[in-house]
Amino acid sequence: MSQPRYSTVPAHVAIIMDGNGRWANGRGLPRTMGHRKGVEAVREAVRTAGESGVKYLTLFAFSSENWRRPESEVSDLMGLLKSFVRRDLETLHRENVRVKVIGDRANLRSDVLPLLLEAEERTRANTAITLVIAFNYGARDEIARAMRSIAGDVAAGVLHPADITPERISARLDTAGIPDPDLIIRTSGEERLSNFLLWQAAYAELMFIPDFWPDFSRQTFLAALENYASRERRFGGLSERPLAVGS
Ligand code: IPE
Ligand code: IPE
Ligand code: MG
Repeated sequence: MSQPRYSTVPAHVAIIMDGNGRWANGRGLPRTMGHRKGVEAVREAVRTAGESGVKYLTLFAFSSENWRRPESEVSDLMGLLKSFVRRDLETLHRENVRVKVIGDRANLRSDVLPLLLEAEERTRANTAITLVIAFNYGARDEIARAMRSIAGDVAAGVLHPADITPERISARLDTAGIPDPDLIIRTSGEERLSNFLLWQAAYAELMFIPDFWPDFSRQTFLAALENYASRERRFGGLSERPLAVGS
């Protein structure tokens, strides 16, 4: 496999996989067909990320607000997650992919939670890339759960309010131990975060791509990585590429 041309590879790419419904509608198909096709795009994205040297790939699969959708669509999405884990877990494991799930596990259906736990357990020691699946995930919910846990420690007298630092807050989030995303991509042309990784996105590069998720190909992903490599991140500091005199 030839080396991609870009030099600066993001360690963590997070993707808001949007537009499955519109992809299907445009073809006169039911929304569920868009979700099905979206699973194929997931497989390709994981492969492309791994080949490109990305170490963490986070995929927004189901938000804590997606429960507002019709019951039939919710149950379809649950079914797709289950069949993805059942069908793909062994391949992911063979490809040395570590699976990690973020989101609230408290009220997940009893046929979904054990599969997610199994995926994490089976792949725990893998090292090629970490696939973070955001499922029943909402950033405000995640932050509220972290705050409750911190408040509990303060109330119990084991943590002093003065010791609540950004690092300690990060360590209580579902993403504890995972570096903040360097690049957040959203497909389908929508330009919003929809409650995704709000804390962790502080200095992420944002990229909004017009393609609907089922059309997100290896080429689209590589082009996004190339675009990322051309950006200059400053983190509040000054440019490391001063303008040439006279230019
Ligand atoms: C993304 O596609 C998948 C999920 C949110 C689960 P959508 O289902 O949001 O598709 P659109 O945005 O309605 O086209
Ligand atoms: C965000 O997409 C959630 C996922 C991709 C899982 P939505 O389609 O739910 O977002 P909104 O409602 O358009 O903001
Ligand atoms: Mg959508």
